[in-house]
Amino acid sequence: MLRDEDRIFRNLYGTDDWRLAGARRRGIWDNTKELIERGRDKIIDEVKKSDLRGRGGAGFPTGLKWSFMPKQSDGRPAYLVVNADESEPGTCKDREILRFDPHMLIEGCLVAGFAMGTVATYIYIRGEFYSEAIHLQAAIDEAYAAGLIGKNACGTGYNHDVYLHRGAGAYICGEETAQLESLEGKKGQPRLKPPFPAAVGLYGCPTTVNNVETIAVGPTILRRGADWWLKIGRPKNTGTKIFCISGHVNKPCNVEEEMGIPLKELIEKHAGGVRGGWDNLLAIIPGGSSVPLLPKSICDTVLMDFDSLREVKSGLGTAAVIVMDKSTDVIAAIARLSHFYMHESCGQCTPCREGTGWMWRVMERMVKGNASIEEIASLEDVTKQIEGHTICALGDAAAWPIQGLIRHFRPLLEQRINDYRGRTAKAAE
Ligand SMILES: Cc1cc2nc3c(=O)[nH]c(=O)nc-3n(C[C@H](O)[C@H](O)[C@H](O)COP(=O)(O)O)c2cc1C
Ligand code: SF4
Repeated sequence: MLRDEDRIFRNLYGTDDWRLAGARRRGIWDNTKELIERGRDKIIDEVKKSDLRGRGGAGFPTGLKWSFMPKQSDGRPAYLVVNADESEPGTCKDREILRFDPHMLIEGCLVAGFAMGTVATYIYIRGEFYSEAIHLQAAIDEAYAAGLIGKNACGTGYNHDVYLHRGAGAYICGEETAQLESLEGKKGQPRLKPPFPAAVGLYGCPTTVNNVETIAVGPTILRRGADWWLKIGRPKNTGTKIFCISGHVNKPCNVEEEMGIPLKELIEKHAGGVRGGWDNLLAIIPGGSSVPLLPKSICDTVLMDFDSLREVKSGLGTAAVIVMDKSTDVIAAIARLSHFYMHESCGQCTPCREGTGWMWRVMERMVKGNASIEEIASLEDVTKQIEGHTICALGDAAAWPIQGLIRHFRPLLEQRINDYRGRTAKAAE
């Protein structure tokens, strides 16, 4: 369990002042000048040493990503884009940073932006986050007025602008290249990679896209040192993490905890336990809607980090834990997610455009049992044909929940089909 002194997000519940005065009291903007004066290489080396992995879902090593940005400018400006789209179902962590501790993010933009040689940060916030955008813009204005960002930021001689851009409410605009398209004023559809954004990103210039939480923790890691961060969590799965716990628990919540905390401990200590007790648990989706669910038997012992969850064929994703107790119709729950992915597909790739609708229609029949046993195998086969065969990871995200359902709940699917057959045969008698 995370020690109180190791907690980074000190205003996660909005109990303190979110403005500059409150942020300064919590240690934000402390010594920022000194952090920047360490120089680009030292900052990136320290972040690499910390083993920080991106908090946006894929868990890519942050220091390594920052090191992909050009060391020397070829005349083009470079940009940092902060992904504040947060549309993954069940996920509501970046929102708390944006509305209750916006200066943490702005300080992070300055330091990360400097380390990557960028001239500006664009923060892309989902359109529905209306009051969050108001807080964030007010904090940006305060930071400009105090000389913390803009020309000669923090008195370092470095110039860095921060712009806020409001999205129009599309899940796909959370995908980094779709986000760049949208920022450029185009329809938000993912780009083929390569080229990667570090080579050709926003307006054709070198760009790094990072999640809000990833950028917000940067200055604290630098202030306290990578060795401190490495002591929290497990090797390659280090530091603290905000978990979002929702569904059939007694006290749904967001909580900052140690990476690698046992799932059971996370739910029992912070979310008041599963409704009706742990034995009433059916399954959990551990990382937003895009990763395969886990049945209770795995939830009993699994640890909440990137590698532990990968070992059980799921993923940490956004660390949004969706809890389902035994009252849940798990087939209907996954069918609902299939509908979401069909609705959010941008339609560029045939396997995703056609496959998400096909899978949803079959899933709807599976909910009723109006299918044949052989169709379970053909459904699984179609998920495999989508997975890895599309421009972006939305195709995988649509396939994985169904794969998880078939992997862990095949007997339930079969029983539903047999029950339906029994009922229709009886009705025909
Ligand atoms: C369909 C889709 C939606 C995504 N939505 C988000 C999002 O809302 N927020 C986010 O930070 N990353 C999202 N991502 C991941 C981003 O593409 C990208 O990997 C991430 O912002 C990188 O930040 P990180 O390295 O700090 O994790 C999404 C990816 C996909 C495929
Ligand atoms: S996988 Fe789906 S959402 Fe992603 S680019 Fe292809 S069609 Fe669009």
